Amino acid sequence: MSKLSFRLKKIKNLISSESNIVWDLCCDHGQLGKSLLQNKQKVYFVDIVPHIIDELKQSIVSSNCEFQAKDATKIIIENRIDESIIMAGVGGWTCIKILDSLINNYTQLKSEFILAPQKNLQTVKDYLLKNDFTLISEDIIQDKKNYYNILKVRRKAYAYNISVPYWSVYAL
Ligand SMILES: C[S@@+](CC[C@H](N)C(=O)[O-])C[C@H]1O[C@@H](n2cnc3c(N)ncnc32)[C@H](O)[C@@H]1O
Repeated sequence: MSKLSFRLKKIKNLISSESNIVWDLCCDHGQLGKSLLQNKQKVYFVDIVPHIIDELKQSIVSSNCEFQAKDATKIIIENRIDESIIMAGVGGWTCIKILDSLINNYTQLKSEFILAPQKNLQTVKDYLLKNDFTLISEDIIQDKKNYYNILKVRRKAYAYNISVPYWSVYAL
């Protein structure tokens, strides 16, 4: 397996240790999800491009994952507190479209989200604020020649169940 980039390593480290289900949305090469397969979590690989998912199916041998070739706005999640949904390497508007479909389908949306949009970061933040998400953490990292912002968020009603409530530092 190829080495995870610094950006993907940082995203991986942000997944809550309590998490049992991880959605690698817009997964492309699936590096992040693949790196989780040795852990106990169930991993869902999702990408809109069918041949990407076909190639992943052929290269991954694990009974603890599923592959879905579809638009991530169409996913059916388990909606659990121990479920993490990752969206990285896509534009802010794609993140917003996926989040919007989830909040419309699940009024009590319990999962945690780790978002690393490549563009329109402020638009994503405005959307999150307007839609009752609480910021658990924001990291800004440098990976080679780029800076990346990584947001970890949850719907307000479920943000306080996390075992390490370092959100309070950011809520001051
Ligand atoms: C640059 S790759 C990101 C790969 C990986 N997540 C990362 O951060 O390194 C973007 C991927 O998102 C997929 N994608 C874009 N829009 C999507 C959507 N609405 N649903 C599912 N996949 C999507 C593309 O097919 C592409 O493979």
